[in-house]
Amino acid sequence: MATALLLLPLLLLLFSTPLQAQQNVTLGSSLTPQGPNSSWLSPSGDFAFGFRPIEGNTSSYLLAVWFNKASDKAVAWYAKTSDSDPALIQVSSGASLQLNSNGGLSLQDATGTEVWTTRGVGVAYAAMLNTGNFVLVGADGSTKWESFKSPVDTILPTQVLTSGSTLRSRIIPTDYSNGRFLLDLQSTGVFLYIVAVPSGHQYDPYWSQPGNTTSLVFNATTGVVYITLDDGSQIKFTSGVIGTMSDYYHRATLDPDGVFRQYMYPKKPSKLSSQAWSVVDFKPPNICQAQLMQNAGSGVCGFNSYCLFNVSNNQSACLCPEQYSFIDEERRYKGCKPDFEPQSCDLDEATASMQFKLVPMTQVDWPYADYEQYSPISKDQCQQLCLTDCFCAVAVYQDSQNTCWKKKMPMSNGNMGDNVDRTLFVKVPNNNSTRSETIGSNKWKKDKKYWILGSSLFLGSSVLVNIVLISVILFGTYCTVTVKEVCSVKSSNNIGLPLKTFTYAELEKATGRFREVLGTGASGIVYKGQLQDDLGTYIAVKKIDKLEHETEKEFTVEVQTIGQTHHKNLVRLLGFCNEGKERLLVYEYMTNGSLNKCLFGDVRLQWNLRAQLALGVARGLLYLHEECCTQIIHCDIKPQNILLDGNFTAKISDFGLAKLLRTNQTQTNTGIRGTRGYVAPEWFRNIGITAKVDVYSFGVILLELICCRRNVESEVVEEDKKILTYWASDCYRCGRVDFLVEGDDEAISDLKKVERYVVVALWCVQEDPTMRPSMMKVVQMLDGASSIPTPPDSSSFFQSLP
Ligand SMILES: *[C@@H]1O[C@H](CO)[C@@H](O)[C@H](O)[C@H]1NC(C)=O
Ligand SMILES: *[C@@H]1O[C@H](CO)[C@@H](O)[C@H](O)[C@H]1NC(C)=O
Ligand SMILES: *[C@@H]1O[C@H](CO)[C@@H](O)[C@H](O)[C@H]1NC(C)=O
Ligand SMILES: *[C@@H]1O[C@H](CO)[C@@H](O)[C@H](O)[C@H]1NC(C)=O
Ligand SMILES: *[C@@H]1O[C@H](CO)[C@@H](O)[C@H](O)[C@H]1NC(C)=O
Ligand SMILES: *[C@@H]1O[C@H](CO)[C@@H](O)[C@H](O)[C@H]1NC(C)=O
Ligand SMILES: *[C@@H]1O[C@H](CO)[C@@H](O)[C@H](O)[C@H]1NC(C)=O
Ligand SMILES: *[C@@H]1O[C@H](CO)[C@@H](O)[C@H](O)[C@H]1NC(C)=O
Ligand SMILES: *[C@@H]1O[C@H](CO)[C@@H](O)[C@H](O)[C@H]1NC(C)=O
Ligand SMILES: *[C@@H]1O[C@H](CO)[C@@H](O)[C@H](O)[C@H]1NC(C)=O
Ligand SMILES: *[C@@H]1O[C@H](CO)[C@@H](O)[C@H](O)[C@H]1NC(C)=O
Ligand SMILES: *[C@@H]1O[C@H](CO)[C@@H](O)[C@H](O)[C@H]1NC(C)=O
Repeated sequence: MATALLLLPLLLLLFSTPLQAQQNVTLGSSLTPQGPNSSWLSPSGDFAFGFRPIEGNTSSYLLAVWFNKASDKAVAWYAKTSDSDPALIQVSSGASLQLNSNGGLSLQDATGTEVWTTRGVGVAYAAMLNTGNFVLVGADGSTKWESFKSPVDTILPTQVLTSGSTLRSRIIPTDYSNGRFLLDLQSTGVFLYIVAVPSGHQYDPYWSQPGNTTSLVFNATTGVVYITLDDGSQIKFTSGVIGTMSDYYHRATLDPDGVFRQYMYPKKPSKLSSQAWSVVDFKPPNICQAQLMQNAGSGVCGFNSYCLFNVSNNQSACLCPEQYSFIDEERRYKGCKPDFEPQSCDLDEATASMQFKLVPMTQVDWPYADYEQYSPISKDQCQQLCLTDCFCAVAVYQDSQNTCWKKKMPMSNGNMGDNVDRTLFVKVPNNNSTRSETIGSNKWKKDKKYWILGSSLFLGSSVLVNIVLISVILFGTYCTVTVKEVCSVKSSNNIGLPLKTFTYAELEKATGRFREVLGTGASGIVYKGQLQDDLGTYIAVKKIDKLEHETEKEFTVEVQTIGQTHHKNLVRLLGFCNEGKERLLVYEYMTNGSLNKCLFGDVRLQWNLRAQLALGVARGLLYLHEECCTQIIHCDIKPQNILLDGNFTAKISDFGLAKLLRTNQTQTNTGIRGTRGYVAPEWFRNIGITAKVDVYSFGVILLELICCRRNVESEVVEEDKKILTYWASDCYRCGRVDFLVEGDDEAISDLKKVERYVVVALWCVQEDPTMRPSMMKVVQMLDGASSIPTPPDSSSFFQSLP
């Protein structure tokens, strides 16, 4: 007794320890949360029954059974109401517990109101047994009540759960209120459910062991938790303890994370094992892969979070995606919230795709958050569709099916999957984009039509072309820039990232006084340069030499619009200079030059690479035509305007210049912004110019990419091969597409794709613009996602021209 008193201060301060192990608890005995009589011990002293302070709240107590000698004093049982959805009983320090003959145990709160009772009748005494079972015994020796019969979240050796019993997890380890998981022992089997808190509503089971079940038994001899069936047979629920049962304390608990774990704890400290609870076995084997059929509820983890199973410690964790964080770090089941403002639904597409970006995540999915599905579609389109959709929080792309899903918040059932075929993208703000200085770039464009300047060298060599040329001069044509409906007026105030403004002196220095000429284009000369920044970024500087008066005023506005078109397959405009009479555009430098050089050079590009370049150009055009806020018709698609970066990604250059360059040039040129061999026939007819002119030019380039030759090659001896578009059509109609790739073994071995590309090209070069597909359709057809009908022979249309 003296020893016990001496030890008292050393024991956990929160626990007041009784002076000696109780044998029988006699009628009339009572416990109070504070003072010496706050609990009754089992004869061995291993278990205690009584008031137990709640971690982190010393003014609040549970009525509980705990492992009295384990360092953490793990709780094995605690009192809950006996409702259909039992609630935790918590009392303050003024409460008391009394053992009576009639009524058994009665717990009264500080005001004397009974808050919990065992309702026993004819109770003679009570006892905390060495098994961890607290029992009320009648005068005849019969058990009137026992804690083993009202299990909460834990079972102990010798404990038997009968059909109809449940275990309910705590919400978090230190909060004993009803948690989110339930083990239900039914006559048809054992099930683990997720529960909608607060309530007992059960979603679909995430683990089950069907069978005509009678009981769940924790066998004290073998250390196995068994499921007993009605025929008397037993199924192992856990694998069992290896070693001597009596050297350890044992428990099996439905943990707050939904996993049913069997634990053991060495009674004596030893060199081999630390004195801590270790996991013997657990169910389910990987809770993160629980497949729930029902789509309500957040799943194993909270909304917007996902479950990660760590094989190195067999623990599951709930995690937040990038730029999301837990609503409550301690109560992670509450889910994750984005750390950023939601995307405004008023952004135009260009701004949306600049202010937000998609971060790829592999092997994660939120299977039930889909609200839109596209198929067939390319990955780029999938990403773009999510970036520009304010509802879209996550996009998933499946390569094998060309399928795209958009997901909305809150996302549920997040888990790590093993579906490597899919890529998931989380939309987060691109925090590099500054929102300063906005420029209303849309105002000037409303439904106006602009003459485009012509600058091409249209030197027809055949009679036919000369006739066409004359008609152009007679009728004139223009390229329109239209603003799509999606660009609401509001959004014009919210344009992202302004371009960098350079001084003329800066650019003069960067280009070494305009020394190295990269090319001479329709709109001016392009020089190579290098910035004085940390990276020594190489640049291409275009000096615009022909600019109309009226356009000068709009130069900055116009250039800002070009600056807002960002796509993998477009050359990026980095900045500009507008100083006095000088107008310069600064682009990123493309190390591998133009397609013109590569394609028609001495070394033939590999077929696969050519096919990839074709897709790149198509995607870039698709973006210009349909995906950026202001529809941009390029009007001068040709191999010189398709540049290649160090990775051989095709990038379209010179887009958006049509308006800047409308000038007096019509007097000296043809009025066509287009280049011989690539211009669509409608330029020569008095009909409106649409995006289909670019589709035509693309068709020509596609054929050039397939065949590695120019559209018009006068050196070719055979007359019928001089013009590639005609020759390709002939070959296709004769069923000899292979002629087009003669000598190209790689292409020959991939003839199906070659043929598909030829057919797409023949559709694109249809003389009637309305017959040509949109770039969206072109991309789908090239991807192989769309079946392709036979293109009509259009030579008759062409020949009927004036
Ligand atoms: C507890 O009380 C019962 C009945 O009075 C008696 O039979 C039993 O031996 C007692 N147990 C202990 C450990 O004293
Ligand atoms: C504690 O319980 C013992 C025996 O059960 C009793 O003798 C003692 O008076 C109690 N102490 C208090 C402070 O109630
Ligand atoms: C402690 O518990 C009491 C009731 O049991 C509750 O009113 C109080 O808010 C709790 N305090 C803290 C800090 O959780
Ligand atoms: C379970 O019980 C049902 C009826 O009680 C019976 O039809 C069925 O055969 C039993 N299943 C097994 C596996 O014993
Ligand atoms: C526990 O297992 C042992 C050995 O298999 C067996 O003899 C005993 O009956 C089992 N106990 C219970 C309660 O099932
Ligand atoms: C997995 O568990 C190991 C061992 O506990 C730990 O070191 C590691 O950081 C965990 N990994 C993750 C991703 O949590
Ligand atoms: C994890 O669990 C598996 C069985 O599910 C077991 O073989 C393995 O030893 C466990 N690993 C750890 C670190 O507990
Ligand atoms: C920008 O992103 C980084 C990394 O994702 C992050 O640490 C930082 O807080 C972000 N800054 C802002 C202003 O959002
Ligand atoms: C911001 O931009 C820099 C360089 O442009 C880049 O290295 C960095 O990764 C970007 N950060 C984010 C969060 O996009
Ligand atoms: C364009 O023509 C108009 C009228 O003929 C003239 O006033 C203007 O100076 C010309 N602009 C240029 C850049 O030649
Ligand atoms: C080439 O691609 C790699 C990987 O996709 C990328 O890291 C690198 O920046 C690219 N280089 C250029 C010049 O675009
Ligand atoms: C393309 O770029 C790569 C790396 O930047 C270089 O090795 C290669 O020689 C370039 N090819 C041409 C044709 O310029």
